[in-house]
Amino acid sequence: MDRLIVRGGRALEGTVDIAGAKNAALPLIAASLLSEQPLTLANVPAVTDVTTLLSLMESYGVGVSRDAAHQVTLDAGSAINAEAHYDVVRRARATILVLGPLLARFGAARVSLPGGCAIGARPIDLHLKALIALGAEVTVDGGYIVARAPNGLKGSRIVLSSPSVGATATAMMAATRARGETEILNAAREPEIADLAAGLSAMGARIEGAGTHRIMLSGDQPFRRATHELIPDRIEAGTYAAAAAITGGRLELIGARLEHLSAECQVLETAGVRIFPTDRGLMVERTGKLSAVDITTEPFPGFHTDLQAQFMAMMSIAEGAALVRETIFENRFMHVPELMRLGADLTLQGTTVLVRGVSRLRGAPVMATDLRASVCLILAGLVAEGETVVNRVYHLDRGYEDLARKLVRCGADIVRVQG
Ligand code: UD1
Repeated sequence: MDRLIVRGGRALEGTVDIAGAKNAALPLIAASLLSEQPLTLANVPAVTDVTTLLSLMESYGVGVSRDAAHQVTLDAGSAINAEAHYDVVRRARATILVLGPLLARFGAARVSLPGGCAIGARPIDLHLKALIALGAEVTVDGGYIVARAPNGLKGSRIVLSSPSVGATATAMMAATRARGETEILNAAREPEIADLAAGLSAMGARIEGAGTHRIMLSGDQPFRRATHELIPDRIEAGTYAAAAAITGGRLELIGARLEHLSAECQVLETAGVRIFPTDRGLMVERTGKLSAVDITTEPFPGFHTDLQAQFMAMMSIAEGAALVRETIFENRFMHVPELMRLGADLTLQGTTVLVRGVSRLRGAPVMATDLRASVCLILAGLVAEGETVVNRVYHLDRGYEDLARKLVRCGADIVRVQG
Protein backbone atom coordinates (compact mmCIF):
# COMPACT_ATOMS: atom_id res chain seq x y z
CA MET A 1 0.00 0.00 0.00
CA ASP A 2 1.41 3.36 -1.05
CA ARG A 3 1.95 6.15 1.42
CA LEU A 4 2.65 9.85 1.13
CA ILE A 5 5.36 11.62 3.06
CA VAL A 6 4.74 15.31 3.55
CA ARG A 7 7.18 17.79 5.06
CA GLY A 8 5.32 20.88 6.09
CA GLY A 9 6.14 24.55 6.16
CA ARG A 10 6.09 25.73 2.56
CA ALA A 11 3.60 28.29 1.22
CA LEU A 12 2.17 26.96 -2.05
CA GLU A 13 2.46 29.13 -5.16
CA GLY A 14 1.53 28.47 -8.74
CA THR A 15 -1.29 27.09 -10.85
CA VAL A 16 -3.36 23.93 -10.53
CA ASP A 17 -5.35 22.44 -13.39
CA ILE A 18 -8.71 21.38 -12.02
CA ALA A 19 -9.83 18.02 -13.44
CA GLY A 20 -13.34 17.15 -14.60
CA ALA A 21 -15.82 16.40 -11.85
CA LYS A 22 -15.79 12.81 -10.61
CA ASN A 23 -19.35 13.16 -9.34
CA ALA A 24 -20.52 14.40 -12.74
CA ALA A 25 -18.61 11.63 -14.55
CA LEU A 26 -20.11 8.74 -12.58
CA PRO A 27 -23.83 9.28 -13.35
CA LEU A 28 -23.12 10.11 -16.98
CA ILE A 29 -21.06 6.95 -17.42
CA ALA A 30 -24.02 5.01 -16.01
CA ALA A 31 -26.40 7.01 -18.24
CA SER A 32 -24.65 5.64 -21.33
CA LEU A 33 -26.59 2.40 -20.65
CA LEU A 34 -29.81 4.22 -21.56
CA SER A 35 -28.92 4.72 -25.19
CA GLU A 36 -28.31 2.54 -28.24
CA GLN A 37 -26.07 5.36 -29.53
CA PRO A 38 -22.50 6.09 -28.38
CA LEU A 39 -21.85 8.74 -25.76
CA THR A 40 -18.51 10.55 -25.70
CA LEU A 41 -17.52 12.23 -22.47
CA ALA A 42 -14.73 14.81 -22.41
CA ASN A 43 -12.85 16.07 -19.35
CA VAL A 44 -13.16 12.69 -17.60
CA PRO A 45 -10.88 12.63 -14.54
CA ALA A 46 -8.28 9.87 -14.22
CA VAL A 47 -9.40 8.65 -10.79
CA THR A 48 -10.07 5.10 -9.65
CA ASP A 49 -13.80 5.62 -8.89
CA VAL A 50 -14.15 6.34 -12.61
CA THR A 51 -11.97 3.46 -13.83
CA THR A 52 -13.84 1.01 -11.61
CA LEU A 53 -17.19 2.13 -12.99
CA LEU A 54 -15.81 1.87 -16.53
CA SER A 55 -14.82 -1.75 -15.76
CA LEU A 56 -18.35 -2.37 -14.54
CA MET A 57 -19.68 -0.93 -17.81
CA GLU A 58 -17.42 -3.30 -19.75
CA SER A 59 -18.69 -6.24 -17.79
CA TYR A 60 -22.23 -5.28 -18.91
CA GLY A 61 -20.94 -5.49 -22.48
CA VAL A 62 -20.64 -1.74 -23.04
CA GLY A 63 -17.85 -0.80 -25.46
CA VAL A 64 -15.48 1.54 -23.64
CA SER A 65 -12.77 3.33 -25.58
CA ARG A 66 -10.35 6.00 -24.40
CA ASP A 67 -10.14 8.27 -27.45
CA ALA A 68 -7.68 10.71 -25.92
CA ALA A 69 -6.47 11.79 -22.52
CA HIS A 70 -9.60 12.46 -20.48
CA GLN A 71 -11.98 11.47 -23.27
CA VAL A 72 -14.02 8.28 -23.15
CA THR A 73 -16.60 6.89 -25.56
CA LEU A 74 -19.19 4.45 -24.25
CA ASP A 75 -21.20 2.38 -26.66
CA ALA A 76 -24.06 0.43 -25.10
CA GLY A 77 -25.65 -0.31 -28.48
CA SER A 78 -24.80 -3.99 -28.62
CA ALA A 79 -26.09 -6.75 -26.38
CA ILE A 80 -25.78 -6.09 -22.68
CA ASN A 81 -24.98 -8.85 -20.22
CA ALA A 82 -27.72 -9.04 -17.65
CA GLU A 83 -25.34 -9.05 -14.74
CA ALA A 84 -21.88 -7.78 -13.95
CA HIS A 85 -19.06 -9.87 -12.55
CA TYR A 86 -19.11 -9.91 -8.79
CA ASP A 87 -15.46 -8.93 -8.41
CA VAL A 88 -16.10 -5.71 -10.34
CA VAL A 89 -19.34 -4.98 -8.49
CA ARG A 90 -17.56 -5.43 -5.19
CA ARG A 91 -15.08 -2.67 -6.00
CA ALA A 92 -17.52 -0.22 -7.56
CA ARG A 93 -19.20 2.16 -5.14
CA ALA A 94 -21.45 3.71 -7.71
CA THR A 95 -23.29 0.46 -8.64
CA ILE A 96 -26.61 1.94 -7.54
CA LEU A 97 -26.32 4.43 -10.41
CA VAL A 98 -26.68 1.67 -13.01
CA LEU A 99 -29.96 0.37 -11.56
CA GLY A 100 -32.21 3.07 -13.08
CA PRO A 101 -30.65 3.01 -16.57
CA LEU A 102 -30.62 -0.82 -16.79
CA LEU A 103 -34.23 -1.07 -15.64
CA ALA A 104 -35.41 1.73 -17.92
CA ARG A 105 -33.74 0.28 -21.00
CA PHE A 106 -34.19 -3.48 -20.50
CA GLY A 107 -37.25 -3.72 -18.26
CA ALA A 108 -35.33 -5.61 -15.59
CA ALA A 109 -32.20 -5.16 -13.51
CA ARG A 110 -30.42 -6.94 -10.72
CA VAL A 111 -27.62 -5.10 -8.98
CA SER A 112 -25.84 -5.77 -5.74
CA LEU A 113 -26.66 -3.64 -2.73
CA PRO A 114 -23.93 -1.05 -2.29
CA GLY A 115 -21.50 -2.10 0.42
CA GLY A 116 -21.23 -0.23 3.71
CA CYS A 117 -19.26 2.94 3.29
CA ALA A 118 -16.90 4.48 5.79
CA ILE A 119 -18.88 7.71 5.95
CA GLY A 120 -22.17 6.16 6.99
CA ALA A 121 -24.86 3.69 6.11
CA ARG A 122 -25.69 5.31 2.74
CA PRO A 123 -29.27 4.07 2.40
CA ILE A 124 -30.82 3.74 -1.05
CA ASP A 125 -34.52 3.86 -0.14
CA LEU A 126 -35.08 7.10 -2.09
CA HIS A 127 -33.61 5.58 -5.27
CA LEU A 128 -35.98 2.62 -4.95
CA LYS A 129 -39.03 4.79 -4.13
CA ALA A 130 -38.37 6.87 -7.24
CA LEU A 131 -38.28 3.75 -9.42
CA ILE A 132 -41.44 2.39 -7.75
CA ALA A 133 -43.18 5.72 -8.47
CA LEU A 134 -42.29 5.14 -12.15
CA GLY A 135 -44.04 1.77 -12.03
CA ALA A 136 -41.21 -0.64 -11.17
CA GLU A 137 -41.57 -3.63 -8.88
CA VAL A 138 -38.59 -3.76 -6.57
CA THR A 139 -37.47 -6.48 -4.19
CA VAL A 140 -34.30 -6.91 -2.20
CA ASP A 141 -33.08 -10.47 -2.18
CA GLY A 142 -29.83 -12.06 -1.00
CA GLY A 143 -27.82 -8.85 -1.17
CA TYR A 144 -29.25 -7.88 -4.54
CA ILE A 145 -31.82 -5.34 -5.63
CA VAL A 146 -34.13 -6.86 -8.21
CA ALA A 147 -36.21 -4.37 -10.19
CA ARG A 148 -38.71 -5.20 -12.91
CA ALA A 149 -40.88 -3.20 -15.25
CA PRO A 150 -41.98 -5.74 -17.87
CA ASN A 151 -44.27 -3.22 -19.59
CA GLY A 152 -41.83 -0.35 -19.33
CA LEU A 153 -41.76 2.61 -16.95
CA LYS A 154 -44.46 5.25 -16.86
CA GLY A 155 -43.89 8.95 -16.21
CA SER A 156 -45.05 10.10 -12.82
CA ARG A 157 -44.67 12.64 -10.02
CA ILE A 158 -41.76 11.77 -7.73
CA VAL A 159 -41.54 13.59 -4.42
CA LEU A 160 -38.19 13.05 -2.72
CA SER A 161 -38.44 13.27 1.07
CA SER A 162 -34.93 14.77 1.06
CA PRO A 163 -32.96 16.16 -1.89
CA SER A 164 -30.63 13.20 -2.39
CA VAL A 165 -28.14 13.72 -5.22
CA GLY A 166 -28.00 10.05 -6.16
CA ALA A 167 -31.78 9.51 -6.00
CA THR A 168 -32.36 12.59 -8.16
CA ALA A 169 -29.92 11.16 -10.72
CA THR A 170 -31.62 7.74 -10.62
CA ALA A 171 -35.05 9.32 -11.11
CA MET A 172 -33.85 11.52 -13.98
CA MET A 173 -32.10 8.72 -15.83
CA ALA A 174 -35.03 6.29 -15.49
CA ALA A 175 -37.57 8.96 -16.49
CA THR A 176 -35.82 9.59 -19.82
CA ARG A 177 -37.14 6.22 -21.00
CA ALA A 178 -40.51 6.30 -19.22
CA ARG A 179 -43.69 6.94 -21.21
CA GLY A 180 -44.99 10.49 -20.71
CA GLU A 181 -44.03 13.28 -18.35
CA THR A 182 -42.17 12.99 -15.05
CA GLU A 183 -41.98 15.67 -12.39
CA ILE A 184 -39.30 15.37 -9.68
CA LEU A 185 -40.02 17.50 -6.63
CA ASN A 186 -37.55 18.38 -3.88
CA ALA A 187 -34.81 17.45 -6.36
CA ALA A 188 -31.14 17.98 -5.53
CA ARG A 189 -29.85 21.27 -6.97
CA GLU A 190 -26.18 20.33 -7.18
CA PRO A 191 -24.19 21.46 -10.27
CA GLU A 192 -23.54 17.77 -11.02
CA ILE A 193 -27.31 17.29 -11.43
CA ALA A 194 -27.44 20.20 -13.87
CA ASP A 195 -24.50 18.61 -15.70
CA LEU A 196 -26.28 15.25 -15.84
CA ALA A 197 -29.27 17.05 -17.36
CA ALA A 198 -26.99 18.72 -19.93
CA GLY A 199 -25.46 15.34 -20.85
CA LEU A 200 -28.85 13.61 -21.05
CA SER A 201 -30.19 16.49 -23.17
CA ALA A 202 -27.26 16.11 -25.56
CA MET A 203 -28.25 12.42 -25.81
CA GLY A 204 -31.78 13.48 -26.82
CA ALA A 205 -33.70 13.71 -23.53
CA ARG A 206 -36.05 16.64 -22.85
CA ILE A 207 -35.42 18.08 -19.39
CA GLU A 208 -36.29 21.37 -17.71
CA GLY A 209 -35.54 22.78 -14.30
CA ALA A 210 -32.33 20.87 -13.44
CA GLY A 211 -30.51 22.95 -10.85
CA THR A 212 -33.83 23.83 -9.16
CA HIS A 213 -36.05 21.87 -6.78
CA ARG A 214 -38.46 20.92 -9.60
CA ILE A 215 -37.25 18.94 -12.60
CA MET A 216 -39.58 18.10 -15.50
CA LEU A 217 -38.79 15.39 -18.06
CA SER A 218 -40.60 14.26 -21.20
CA GLY A 219 -39.85 10.59 -21.53
CA ASP A 220 -39.24 8.26 -24.43
CA GLN A 221 -37.51 10.70 -26.75
CA PRO A 222 -35.24 9.06 -29.32
CA PHE A 223 -31.61 8.90 -28.25
CA ARG A 224 -28.83 10.11 -30.52
CA ARG A 225 -25.06 10.01 -30.62
CA ALA A 226 -23.77 12.65 -28.22
CA THR A 227 -20.67 14.36 -26.88
CA HIS A 228 -20.59 16.11 -23.55
CA GLU A 229 -17.83 17.89 -21.65
CA LEU A 230 -17.99 17.45 -17.89
CA ILE A 231 -17.91 20.41 -15.51
CA PRO A 232 -14.76 21.02 -13.43
CA ASP A 233 -14.51 19.26 -10.08
CA ARG A 234 -15.60 21.77 -7.45
CA ILE A 235 -14.40 19.53 -4.62
CA GLU A 236 -10.93 19.34 -6.09
CA ALA A 237 -10.99 23.13 -6.59
CA GLY A 238 -12.18 23.68 -3.01
CA THR A 239 -9.46 21.37 -1.74
CA TYR A 240 -6.70 23.35 -3.48
CA ALA A 241 -8.29 26.59 -2.28
CA ALA A 242 -7.95 25.21 1.25
CA ALA A 243 -4.33 24.25 0.45
CA ALA A 244 -3.54 27.85 -0.55
CA ALA A 245 -5.30 29.12 2.55
CA ILE A 246 -3.74 26.74 5.06
CA THR A 247 -0.19 27.30 3.80
CA GLY A 248 -0.54 31.08 3.42
CA GLY A 249 0.12 30.76 -0.29
CA ARG A 250 -1.30 31.85 -3.63
CA LEU A 251 -2.79 29.42 -6.13
CA GLU A 252 -4.61 29.97 -9.40
CA LEU A 253 -7.16 27.20 -9.88
CA ILE A 254 -7.49 26.78 -13.63
CA GLY A 255 -11.06 25.97 -14.64
CA ALA A 256 -12.59 26.50 -11.18
CA ARG A 257 -15.93 28.34 -11.09
CA LEU A 258 -16.98 30.76 -8.39
CA GLU A 259 -20.68 29.92 -8.79
CA HIS A 260 -19.94 26.30 -7.82
CA LEU A 261 -18.18 27.33 -4.61
CA SER A 262 -20.04 30.34 -3.30
CA ALA A 263 -20.64 29.04 0.24
CA GLU A 264 -17.06 27.80 0.53
CA CYS A 265 -15.62 31.07 -0.81
CA GLN A 266 -17.70 32.98 1.72
CA VAL A 267 -16.11 30.93 4.52
CA LEU A 268 -12.66 31.55 3.07
CA GLU A 269 -13.21 35.29 2.78
CA THR A 270 -14.53 35.53 6.33
CA ALA A 271 -11.45 33.60 7.43
CA GLY A 272 -9.21 36.24 5.80
CA VAL A 273 -8.47 34.62 2.43
CA ARG A 274 -8.72 36.63 -0.82
CA ILE A 275 -10.50 35.02 -3.74
CA PHE A 276 -11.19 36.52 -7.12
CA PRO A 277 -12.05 35.23 -10.58
CA THR A 278 -9.36 35.34 -13.28
CA ASP A 279 -9.60 34.74 -17.03
CA ARG A 280 -8.74 31.12 -16.43
CA GLY A 281 -10.42 30.30 -13.13
CA LEU A 282 -10.04 31.46 -9.56
CA MET A 283 -7.16 33.01 -7.61
CA VAL A 284 -6.90 32.16 -3.93
CA GLU A 285 -4.36 33.84 -1.70
CA ARG A 286 -3.70 34.44 1.96
CA THR A 287 -1.22 36.98 3.24
CA GLY A 288 -2.57 37.73 6.73
CA LYS A 289 -3.84 35.59 9.57
CA LEU A 290 -6.52 32.93 9.34
CA SER A 291 -9.57 33.52 11.53
CA ALA A 292 -11.90 30.80 12.78
CA VAL A 293 -15.29 30.56 11.02
CA ASP A 294 -18.22 28.27 11.90
CA ILE A 295 -19.26 25.81 9.20
CA THR A 296 -22.48 23.83 8.71
CA THR A 297 -22.67 21.37 5.82
CA GLU A 298 -25.83 21.56 3.71
CA PRO A 299 -27.11 20.53 0.30
CA PHE A 300 -26.08 22.86 -2.55
CA PRO A 301 -25.86 25.87 -2.54
CA GLY A 302 -24.81 25.36 1.09
CA PHE A 303 -21.36 24.33 2.27
CA HIS A 304 -20.43 20.95 0.72
CA THR A 305 -19.99 17.97 3.02
CA ASP A 306 -17.15 16.78 0.77
CA LEU A 307 -15.11 19.85 1.83
CA GLN A 308 -15.84 19.67 5.56
CA ALA A 309 -12.70 17.69 6.46
CA GLN A 310 -10.37 19.94 4.43
CA PHE A 311 -11.82 23.11 5.97
CA MET A 312 -11.57 21.58 9.45
CA ALA A 313 -7.84 21.11 8.85
CA MET A 314 -7.68 24.80 7.98
CA MET A 315 -9.67 25.87 11.05
CA SER A 316 -7.37 23.84 13.26
CA ILE A 317 -4.63 26.48 12.79
CA ALA A 318 -6.93 29.54 12.64
CA GLU A 319 -7.13 32.16 15.39
CA GLY A 320 -10.11 31.54 17.66
CA ALA A 321 -12.61 28.70 17.85
CA ALA A 322 -14.96 27.35 15.19
CA LEU A 323 -17.91 24.98 15.31
CA VAL A 324 -18.06 22.51 12.43
CA ARG A 325 -21.45 20.86 12.10
CA GLU A 326 -22.12 17.93 9.74
CA THR A 327 -25.74 17.49 8.63
CA ILE A 328 -25.42 15.25 5.55
CA PHE A 329 -23.55 12.09 6.62
CA GLU A 330 -23.72 10.89 10.21
CA ASN A 331 -20.28 9.35 10.45
CA ARG A 332 -18.13 11.85 8.68
CA PHE A 333 -15.64 12.72 11.39
CA MET A 334 -13.12 9.92 11.01
CA HIS A 335 -10.42 12.49 10.32
CA VAL A 336 -10.93 13.99 13.80
CA PRO A 337 -8.73 11.56 15.80
CA GLU A 338 -6.08 11.63 13.06
CA LEU A 339 -5.96 15.45 13.03
CA MET A 340 -5.62 15.32 16.81
CA ARG A 341 -2.53 13.15 16.37
CA LEU A 342 -1.04 16.11 14.51
CA GLY A 343 -1.82 18.39 17.45
CA ALA A 344 -5.21 19.81 16.49
CA ASP A 345 -7.44 20.76 19.44
CA LEU A 346 -10.79 19.17 18.56
CA THR A 347 -13.78 18.17 20.66
CA LEU A 348 -16.31 15.92 18.98
CA GLN A 349 -19.84 15.90 20.30
CA GLY A 350 -22.49 14.18 18.19
CA THR A 351 -22.56 15.85 14.81
CA THR A 352 -20.49 18.86 15.86
CA VAL A 353 -16.80 19.43 16.35
CA LEU A 354 -15.44 22.34 18.33
CA VAL A 355 -12.16 23.37 16.74
CA ARG A 356 -9.91 25.53 18.89
CA GLY A 357 -7.17 26.94 16.72
CA VAL A 358 -3.60 26.04 17.70
CA SER A 359 -0.47 27.94 16.72
CA ARG A 360 1.18 24.91 15.13
CA LEU A 361 0.68 21.30 14.13
CA ARG A 362 3.39 18.64 14.40
CA GLY A 363 3.99 15.86 11.86
CA ALA A 364 3.08 12.27 12.77
CA PRO A 365 2.13 9.02 11.04
CA VAL A 366 -1.61 9.07 10.31
CA MET A 367 -4.11 6.76 8.65
CA ALA A 368 -6.31 7.77 5.75
CA THR A 369 -9.83 6.44 6.30
CA ASP A 370 -11.84 7.78 3.40
CA LEU A 371 -11.37 9.98 0.38
CA ARG A 372 -11.91 13.43 1.89
CA ALA A 373 -10.42 12.49 5.28
CA SER A 374 -7.20 11.49 3.50
CA VAL A 375 -6.82 14.79 1.74
CA CYS A 376 -7.52 16.72 4.94
CA LEU A 377 -4.53 14.97 6.52
CA ILE A 378 -2.34 15.96 3.57
CA LEU A 379 -3.44 19.59 3.99
CA ALA A 380 -2.63 19.47 7.69
CA GLY A 381 0.72 17.87 6.83
CA LEU A 382 1.52 20.81 4.54
CA VAL A 383 1.68 23.12 7.57
CA ALA A 384 2.78 20.67 10.26
CA GLU A 385 6.33 20.88 11.53
CA GLY A 386 8.40 17.91 10.46
CA GLU A 387 7.21 14.83 8.64
CA THR A 388 3.66 13.55 8.26
CA VAL A 389 3.26 10.06 6.82
CA VAL A 390 -0.21 9.39 5.39
CA ASN A 391 -0.88 5.69 4.98
CA ARG A 392 -3.49 4.00 2.77
CA VAL A 393 -3.45 6.64 0.09
CA TYR A 394 -5.43 4.46 -2.29
CA HIS A 395 -8.43 6.35 -0.86
CA LEU A 396 -7.02 9.52 -2.42
CA ASP A 397 -6.68 7.94 -5.83
CA ARG A 398 -10.44 7.38 -5.87
CA GLY A 399 -11.10 11.06 -6.32
CA TYR A 400 -7.93 13.10 -6.86
CA GLU A 401 -6.01 12.96 -10.10
CA ASP A 402 -2.25 13.33 -9.57
CA LEU A 403 -2.58 15.01 -6.19
CA ALA A 404 1.05 14.68 -5.12
CA ARG A 405 2.38 15.87 -8.47
CA LYS A 406 0.04 18.88 -8.57
CA LEU A 407 1.10 19.89 -5.05
CA VAL A 408 4.82 19.44 -5.78
CA ARG A 409 4.50 21.71 -8.84
CA CYS A 410 3.32 24.45 -6.46
CA GLY A 411 6.25 23.99 -4.12
CA ALA A 412 5.05 21.35 -1.65
CA ASP A 413 7.54 18.86 -0.23
CA ILE A 414 5.65 15.62 -0.71
CA VAL A 415 6.69 12.22 -2.00
CA ARG A 416 4.75 9.08 -2.74
CA VAL A 417 6.40 5.90 -1.57
CA GLN A 418 5.29 2.61 -3.05
CA GLY A 419 4.57 -0.54 -1.13
C1 UD1 B 1 -23.30 12.33 -3.58
C2 UD1 B 1 -21.83 12.46 -3.86
C3 UD1 B 1 -21.05 12.60 -2.57
C4 UD1 B 1 -21.61 13.77 -1.75
C5 UD1 B 1 -23.11 13.64 -1.57
C6 UD1 B 1 -23.75 14.84 -0.90
C7 UD1 B 1 -21.58 11.15 -5.89
C8 UD1 B 1 -21.05 9.91 -6.53
N1 UD1 B 1 -21.38 11.26 -4.57
O1 UD1 B 1 -23.47 11.14 -2.83
O2 UD1 B 1 -19.69 12.84 -2.89
O3 UD1 B 1 -21.01 13.77 -0.48
O4 UD1 B 1 -23.75 13.48 -2.85
O5 UD1 B 1 -23.51 16.00 -1.63
O6 UD1 B 1 -22.11 12.03 -6.54
N2 UD1 B 1 -30.07 9.23 1.61
C9 UD1 B 1 -31.12 8.47 2.05
N3 UD1 B 1 -31.71 7.60 1.17
C10 UD1 B 1 -31.30 7.48 -0.12
C11 UD1 B 1 -30.23 8.27 -0.56
C12 UD1 B 1 -29.62 9.14 0.34
O7 UD1 B 1 -31.51 8.55 3.21
O8 UD1 B 1 -31.88 6.68 -0.87
C13 UD1 B 1 -29.39 10.16 2.56
C14 UD1 B 1 -27.92 9.80 2.76
O9 UD1 B 1 -27.76 8.83 3.76
C15 UD1 B 1 -27.34 11.13 3.16
C16 UD1 B 1 -28.17 12.14 2.37
O10 UD1 B 1 -29.36 11.44 1.99
O11 UD1 B 1 -27.54 11.35 4.53
C17 UD1 B 1 -27.46 12.68 1.15
O12 UD1 B 1 -27.11 11.61 0.31
P1 UD1 B 1 -27.04 11.78 -1.27
O13 UD1 B 1 -27.30 13.20 -1.64
O14 UD1 B 1 -27.88 10.72 -1.89
O15 UD1 B 1 -25.52 11.44 -1.54
P2 UD1 B 1 -24.92 10.49 -2.66
O16 UD1 B 1 -25.68 10.66 -3.92
O17 UD1 B 1 -24.69 9.15 -2.09
